[in-house]
Amino acid sequence: MPQPRQILVTSALPYANGAIHLGHLVEYIQTDIWVRFQKMRGHACWYVCADDTHGTPIMLRADKEGITPETLISRVYQEHTRDFAGFHVAFDNYHSTHSEETRFFASDIYGKLKAAGLIEVRAIEQFYDPVKGMFLPDRYIQGECPKCGTPDQYGDSCESCGAAYAPTDLKNPVSAVSGAVPIRKSSDHFFFKLSDPRCQEFLRRATREVCKTQPEAVNKLQEWLGEPGENKLTDWDISRDAPYFGFEIPGAPGKYFYVWLDAPIGYFGSLKNLAARRPEVDVAAFIERDAAARAGTEMYHFVGKDILYFHALFWPAELEHSGYRIPTAVFAHGFLTVDGQKMSKSRGTFITAESYLKQGLNPEWLRYYYAAKLNASMEDIDLNLDDFIARVNSDLVGKYVNIASRCAGFIHRRFDGALAAVSGTLLEDVRAAGETVAAHYQAREYGKAVREVMALADRANQFVNDHAPWELAKKEGADAELHRVCSEALNLFRLLTIYLKPVLPKLAADVEAFLKVAPLAWSDAATLMPGGHLIGEYKHLTTRVERKQIDALLEANKASLAPAPMSQPHSQQRHAEHQQHAEEKAAVSHISIDDFSKVDLRIARIANAEHVEGAEKLIKLTLDLGTETRTVFAGIKSAYDPAALTGRLTVMVANLAPRKMKFGLSEGMVLAASGEGPGIFLLSPDSGAQPGMKVK
Ligand code: 2FM
Ligand code: ZN
Repeated sequence: MPQPRQILVTSALPYANGAIHLGHLVEYIQTDIWVRFQKMRGHACWYVCADDTHGTPIMLRADKEGITPETLISRVYQEHTRDFAGFHVAFDNYHSTHSEETRFFASDIYGKLKAAGLIEVRAIEQFYDPVKGMFLPDRYIQGECPKCGTPDQYGDSCESCGAAYAPTDLKNPVSAVSGAVPIRKSSDHFFFKLSDPRCQEFLRRATREVCKTQPEAVNKLQEWLGEPGENKLTDWDISRDAPYFGFEIPGAPGKYFYVWLDAPIGYFGSLKNLAARRPEVDVAAFIERDAAARAGTEMYHFVGKDILYFHALFWPAELEHSGYRIPTAVFAHGFLTVDGQKMSKSRGTFITAESYLKQGLNPEWLRYYYAAKLNASMEDIDLNLDDFIARVNSDLVGKYVNIASRCAGFIHRRFDGALAAVSGTLLEDVRAAGETVAAHYQAREYGKAVREVMALADRANQFVNDHAPWELAKKEGADAELHRVCSEALNLFRLLTIYLKPVLPKLAADVEAFLKVAPLAWSDAATLMPGGHLIGEYKHLTTRVERKQIDALLEANKASLAPAPMSQPHSQQRHAEHQQHAEEKAAVSHISIDDFSKVDLRIARIANAEHVEGAEKLIKLTLDLGTETRTVFAGIKSAYDPAALTGRLTVMVANLAPRKMKFGLSEGMVLAASGEGPGIFLLSPDSGAQPGMKVK
């Protein structure tokens, strides 16, 4: 027997100010399946998580509700743990970052980084709300886009033209908290020096390893880190000024750790909290560098792709330079879409976990459907509601449960519940397939695992069809055959139950009770139920999904387009909330196709790109439009090296009024994408496009 592995697994900590919804559940279900699989394989696997409780949005939300942040987070804790339990997400521990354990590790890590010379104090100037008496995070400042003038834009980027900027660039800014005009104010901030050569060298060397199972993630890292010597990562601001709900930084009164500093540290806090009641958990062996290396423990983080850079860059750099172990791997997944679109409150597809359960839908239907759709990539997964109904009904009810429901009654009625001894090629094949299924679970290729199991279920059903126990039951002298066929079918059913158990834990427990077998482990696939084994009476194991249940669910989740309260942009949720925000705006400001066609979008070849003396953000582009050339100053210096731009094609707005800038006249604008994380991404046409072509 190989030694059991010692594995620590985490899912991202959800913010303590919003409900768990089906988008979140992609990650928790994905992780839970993996953990259950590891446990069934006999490994020591600990699944820890917690609420992510700190930060400005939680503080302001509590303020608005007239309660303390502590009261708010304890209420949300109850809701979150209820919802996770409802979907059979079985954490070994679910804690809170607002805990002494997390405070301990945050101080320890910070202290060690400081001792290593990796913390620097620098004064920065930010917007300050003089009425509320607080510094304003980017999302709490609104104003006109400095580039295109669109009103009501957030302090980080423009939803209309896509420009990314500093909040202090906004025109006519107002505080979203009090409506006051913010003032600029300087204060000391603590920075983690990611630009230090030690961090750069470490990140280049080690973080690819952390993402090695996902080539797309490795590419992202490469992009973030830039070419050797490029030093693209800038120092990370890890402090916030009072008032702030969080941990005060030791030795720095009035300064608090930024929520993203203590969030991943919450994984360790939760583990330490678990160890207090489970003495077999050796915390040091999981988290301290030398102890972990000696013990050969593993640590995995499941995260949304939008928070990969926190987990694959900042977090490992913190750990490495404070004597802790780094993750064995970070597994990033995509977002959830519903019927091919982002979740939306107006369509009713922003479905909360609570409403799903309240409507009486079976949580294992969703677990099964997600499993069938999941793979190891960062691609988004789509919950197609018609497909959901079809798949659950055909696979779970029509294939898997069908095997038992067609055979169990005969054993019970005709053979006093006792099985016959069985053997044969089909049983052997299904047993042998277990290792293939296991390899798919291990590799997070759950879709493949489920397809493999359903192919086996098809064979089992074919076997039942071929032998037609309902015919044998009517035939004189066919008792032994009937007994054998039904016993074989139930043994096949038991094997399939083992393979589906990580996905369907409750159903598997019901099957174990019905078959009167001990909780099934993976190694149980090596044996069969022996002759004479007594099973219980068959009771229906699952029901079909009806379209009307789904319609009722959508109806229950349909919200008016009343503006949502300001909340924290979450992983997974961030995606959906952004959509909701866009919807709210769209409800008041559609543009017509005529409006759109006023914008003259053209393919342009970057004939030349150069740095602009004295400009922090700009690159000067000479754009070839086929019949003419234009000069455009683009704010893309943080993301591109001019040399790499020359010769490539992009898209420009050709009829934007020329703008006189400090460095010269800008005659248009190039189009680029940006998100919450770092990075600006210039648009490129497909090959074949020529300079001057119209984009429409
Ligand atoms: O994006 C989010 O929802 C964060 N609350 C995730 C934190 S994960 C970890 F670092 F704690
Ligand atoms: Zn704009």
